[in-house]
Amino acid sequence: ATKTQFMSTNEIKEMVKTLPQQTCSWVKDKITMYKYQGFWSLQKFLEGAIFTQQSFKAQPSDVFLCSYPKSGTTWLKALAFAIITRKKFDESANPLLTTFPHKCIPFLESDFEQIEENQKNSCFTPIATHFPYPALPESILASNCKIVYIYRNMKDVIVSYYHFLREIAKLPIQDAPFEGAFDDFTHGISWYGPYWDHILGYWKASLSRPERFLFLKYEDMKKDPKSNVKRLAEFIGRPFTIEEENEGVIDNIIKLCSFENLSNLEVNKSGRSEGFVGIENRLYFRKAKDGDWENYFSDEMIEKIDKLIDEKLSVTGLVL
Ligand code: A3P
Repeated sequence: ATKTQFMSTNEIKEMVKTLPQQTCSWVKDKITMYKYQGFWSLQKFLEGAIFTQQSFKAQPSDVFLCSYPKSGTTWLKALAFAIITRKKFDESANPLLTTFPHKCIPFLESDFEQIEENQKNSCFTPIATHFPYPALPESILASNCKIVYIYRNMKDVIVSYYHFLREIAKLPIQDAPFEGAFDDFTHGISWYGPYWDHILGYWKASLSRPERFLFLKYEDMKKDPKSNVKRLAEFIGRPFTIEEENEGVIDNIIKLCSFENLSNLEVNKSGRSEGFVGIENRLYFRKAKDGDWENYFSDEMIEKIDKLIDEKLSVTGLVL
């Protein structure tokens, strides 16, 4: 039996309304999450996700950039794009200088036309997604397509997520209690959450087919961008030559995609993406600091979350 029955866009809309739902009280009930196949999402994203589940056909050469939101998706997209386009554009002309990274690499659950166009033109472009592994379209699950998974310290993800949703709800900090976001998140009610199930899903799938997966840790990428960018390039089939390395091509890609560079570009400071429910581009570039969580967590929260990480994720050896 197939996992999803084919539904029209209207049927999907109606179905989503009937799903278990929860308003996020800490953002004054301005945001509602819906639960589908074990994960939570926002209505628009879920509609897109269900549409994609039943229609997307993976090509053998597809590469997927997968992540839990706020784990470094924007950075990974920029790096992958810079890697695959490095011969096409010289440094001063890369589209990343004038295009929001989320426009350069499409999202599986929302950028249908761009994906179709790329497939039609045989234009190799990775496809990004926040889907939990088990909810990926069947054609991806059944394929040998490569999967890059970026993950990040859960405490910093919570803080990043808190500010992102707070900004979407247009609430100042004093009107959006961090404790509320923390509670929701640690109860699994977060965008594409539970967070730990997201990591576990990809990790479990990688056990039987390790060659299909590349796990990148946000903090490691910051500490040692060069070797991680090399791993990424190799994995997606675009390895750097010794000459390129000596000419500084890798260093230039790292510089181009750095937070300092991208967050100061006009397009990322003042642009807005239509496809993304009108979210302002700047919201994807906040601080990019490791350990910002220390400014938000009480001792009690630290204890609670350390226990949760230990219980749920220690088995993976992935999250420290
Ligand atoms: P903070 O909110 O902690 O600053 P995502 O892209 O998955 O939505 O994740 C967003 C987080 O990645 C934000 O974290 C953001 O600042 C950070 N980020 C965005 N661009 C980055 C880059 N080029 N390098 C490193 N971190 C980046």
